[in-house]
Amino acid sequence: EPNEGELACNTFGKGRMAEPEEIYQYISKYFQKKKILSGKRILLTAGPCREAIDPVRFISNRSSGKMGFALAQAAKDFGAKVTLITGPTDLLAGPDIHQIQIESTEEMYKAVRKEFSRNNMLIMAAAPADYKSKKIAGQKIKKDFNDLSLELIPTVDILTSIKSIKKKNQIVIGFALETENGEKNALAKLKNKGLDLIVLNMVAEQTPFDSDTNKVTLMYKNGQKTSFPMMSKRELAWQLMEKFGELM
Ligand code: CTP
Repeated sequence: EPNEGELACNTFGKGRMAEPEEIYQYISKYFQKKKILSGKRILLTAGPCREAIDPVRFISNRSSGKMGFALAQAAKDFGAKVTLITGPTDLLAGPDIHQIQIESTEEMYKAVRKEFSRNNMLIMAAAPADYKSKKIAGQKIKKDFNDLSLELIPTVDILTSIKSIKKKNQIVIGFALETENGEKNALAKLKNKGLDLIVLNMVAEQTPFDSDTNKVTLMYKNGQKTSFPMMSKRELAWQLMEKFGELM
């Protein structure tokens, strides 16, 4: 990132080239990543899901997929074999990452179930839709100026479905996106979904959607907690992957 300071155009702001020493430190740190995940297979999900209403409309959410993609890259940097199942995003995974494109929560569910058994770890960073339209109209729903109600039914909960097929040596990590009672809600998800670890992301403190930075707390099933300060998603992904790796 550029530094802040006096600029050539006589204004002050973010736009100065980072000091060569800083660039050197960053690059050497990048290339010195220890291959702590070598020989491990990691399955990740990222991005939103889309639930069709009719041929031209869908229900979705504001997930950008950036955190999941950064984690996939970090896992790769640490030497893991990475499969990334992703909903529609503008992002492209690196060349050594096996990317599987899906749209709906049902498709993500099927892909996760197909891939899970050959992986050492599942990281569910995606934001599946919680509800879908009960009926998908075959033709575009026309505007008739009356109120329109959609009947919604729950989608399958992917993590909960993994609970019964998870082997002892497989690690499952979830994310909790909360606007209130963060720790209480995250703990309930950790327990109900049978997770080893949950990453708590509070929307109230910042807007994580589409942002390049994030601030999270890790909550382990043994009650341990670790908080990370606000940092770039790329840096955070490296730090999180180091912690996730310790679980294996
Ligand atoms: N998740 C899932 N299947 C779903 C919905 C969510 O596996 N159908 C996963 C997410 O990928 C995340 C975790 O469950 O890792 C928690 O997701 P979150 O949206 O925070 O919570 P929900 O379980 O959907 O509960 P609520 O929306 O009520 O907070």
